Amino acid sequence: MERILYVGKTKVIYEGADDKTVTIGYKDTTTAFNGEKKQELIGKGKLNAAISNFIYKYLTENGIETHLIEEVDTSSITAKRAEIIQVEVIVRNVAAGCFSAKYGVPEGTELRNSTVEFCIKSDTLGDPMVNASQITAIGLATADELNEMSQMAVKINELLCELFTNVGIRLIDFKLEFGRYDGRIILCDEISPDSCRLWEIGTDRKLDKDRFRRDLGNVLGAYKEVLRRLENVK
Ligand code: C5P
Repeated sequence: MERILYVGKTKVIYEGADDKTVTIGYKDTTTAFNGEKKQELIGKGKLNAAISNFIYKYLTENGIETHLIEEVDTSSITAKRAEIIQVEVIVRNVAAGCFSAKYGVPEGTELRNSTVEFCIKSDTLGDPMVNASQITAIGLATADELNEMSQMAVKINELLCELFTNVGIRLIDFKLEFGRYDGRIILCDEISPDSCRLWEIGTDRKLDKDRFRRDLGNVLGAYKEVLRRLENVK
């Protein structure tokens, strides 16, 4: 195996065949609450790799550039070696999680417009929310980069809402990470039930990491259900 560049909570990044690429391996480790809760869920890595690859191919077909180059095996990919922007972008369509807790809006409330939030990507700081002027002041990203990331996030939200609605799933919220590559901003990291809230339309059954966070059981069953539905999309 190639040299390890970085070990994250749920992925390992290896040096690629050249300096423009990396190999990313998805781990079975599942974490929540900034790593305080942690468990190995055997097979989760493969499920998230399959779901994220499916979504990234769909986004690519629809004009969003992502880091995905190709699948190496069932739990790893070759990706463009981007410089990760240390800002997480969270998009919400329905109130849940931190939004409900922070602003007192009951979980499940449809929002009148989608929201786009920025957080600093830092385990030490606990991913604090920041605004655009704070990000540019600190130097985490430029105003142009933030505009590009916001526009891409809005477009990705439209595309994902359409995709998930087609398979009977409501996209509640999700988190994105972007990187700089060849002077462009590209979508990095993953989009999977680890990074999205996905509720079954009609029942509101949770099909995402909240099953792990809240001890609802059958975490892998839910992830499998998401993949099964996506693979059967018309
Ligand atoms: O916790 P919060 O309500 O802010 O999460 C919003 C969305 O972003 C959820 O889908 C959650 O899974 C995702 N998220 C993430 N990684 C983080 C923070 C949030 O994937 N560090």
